[in-house]
Amino acid sequence: MSPTPVTTNLPTQPASYSWEATDEEVAARYGVPIETILRFDLNTSPSPPELAGRVLAGGAFEAPLSEYPPSDYRRLVETAARVYGVATDELLVGAGADEILDIIGKTFLPPGGAAVIPAPTYAMYRVVTEQRGARAAIVPRLGPEAGWALDEPAVRTAAANAEVVWLCSPNNPTALPEPDGAIARLLEGIAADALAADRPPAIVALDEAYAEFADGSLVDLRLEHPNLVVIRTASKAYGLAGLRVGFAIARPETIARIVPFRPPGSVSTVSMTVVAEVLANPAEMRANVARVDAERDRLVDALRAAGWGVGPSVTNFLLVDLGTAERAANVATELLRRGLVPRTFPAGHPLAHALRLTIRDRAGDDRLIVAAREIGS
Ligand SMILES: Cc1ncc(COP(=O)(O)O)c(C=O)c1O
Repeated sequence: MSPTPVTTNLPTQPASYSWEATDEEVAARYGVPIETILRFDLNTSPSPPELAGRVLAGGAFEAPLSEYPPSDYRRLVETAARVYGVATDELLVGAGADEILDIIGKTFLPPGGAAVIPAPTYAMYRVVTEQRGARAAIVPRLGPEAGWALDEPAVRTAAANAEVVWLCSPNNPTALPEPDGAIARLLEGIAADALAADRPPAIVALDEAYAEFADGSLVDLRLEHPNLVVIRTASKAYGLAGLRVGFAIARPETIARIVPFRPPGSVSTVSMTVVAEVLANPAEMRANVARVDAERDRLVDALRAAGWGVGPSVTNFLLVDLGTAERAANVATELLRRGLVPRTFPAGHPLAHALRLTIRDRAGDDRLIVAAREIGS
C-alpha cells in the first residue's frame, strides 16, 4: 500500500484509480492511533456547514425515504440553476463531479477516440478516458515559472484529433487558474479549426471543482460555445463531499445529449435535499472560503519558514516542491508517521518530487507546521 497512490495499469488494461488508503489502513500501517489521523490529501473542507446538520435533524426530505428520489431532481436542479445563473435545461445532476466526468466520457468518447489532457492535472480524466477505450493525448503544461498554464497552441493542435479536451481551472494539483483569456482563446481556436475542417469541435470539459475559492467561473462561455461543459461540485467549498453531488452545465442541446447516459437515481433523496438547501444559503460556504484565504497565507508562510518550497495557490490546497522524488517520499513517510496524510505522486509522475497538502483548520494546520519544522528542508 502506498499512501495515496494513483496507478495506471498495463496498456492492455483500462487505467484504474487505486482509492486512497482509509484512515484504518494508514493507522495500521504507520502505527498511529486512528483518532489522530488528519487527511491533507483530499482537498475537502474541515467540517460540513451547520445548515446541513439542521436539515438532516429536521428529517423533512423531498420524498419519503422508502421511495426513489424524483428522477429529474427537480428542486435541486431549480436551485442549482439559480445559483450558477443558468437555465434549468442547462444543468444536469450527478453523484459528485466524478460521476459527471464519467457520464461525459460515456457520452462523447467512443472506443478508439481520443481525449486531450494537459498534465499534470486531476487523475480521473485519464482514468475515464482509458476506461472508455479511448487514447489519452497528454499535453505537458508549461512549468511552474509559467504558473503551470496549459500550452495553448499544443492543446489546440491536439484537440483537432480528439473528441474531448479535459480542462481544470483552478487546476488540481497545481493550485492555479488558467491565465485570463486562455480558455476563451482555446475555445475560439478549436471552433475555428473545426469549422475549417468541416467537423464538430471537440467537447471541452472544464472542471471548476475549486471555482468558489478563486471567485470566478467561465460558465458564460457556454453561450458562444455549445461544446463547452462546465463541471461544478458541492464537495469542496460547500463542505459536502460525503453527500456526493456534482453538476454539468452546458447549452440545452449539449445537456440533452448527456441526459441519456446519466443514471436515473444515483443521487440520494437526502443528498438532493441537503445540497439544495445549502446552495440556496451560501453564507457558510462564503465564510469557509474567507477562512481558507486567511489560513492559506498563514500556512504558506509557516511552511516556507520551515524551508519547504510552497508554490502559489488560489485554492484550498498547496503544492509543495521538495526538490527530489526521494525527498518527497521521505517527507511523506515522516508525515504519515505523525498521522498526517499527504497526497503523493507516483514514480515517473512529473510531480514525483512534490506533495499536495490540503489547507485545513488552524488546529489541523498547526500539526502540519510543527511536523514541517521537525522534518526540516
Ligand atoms: C479537479 C477535481 N474534480 C473533481 C473532483 C471530484 O469531486 P467530487 O467529490 O464532486 O466527485 C475532485 C476531487 O478531488 C477534483 O479535485
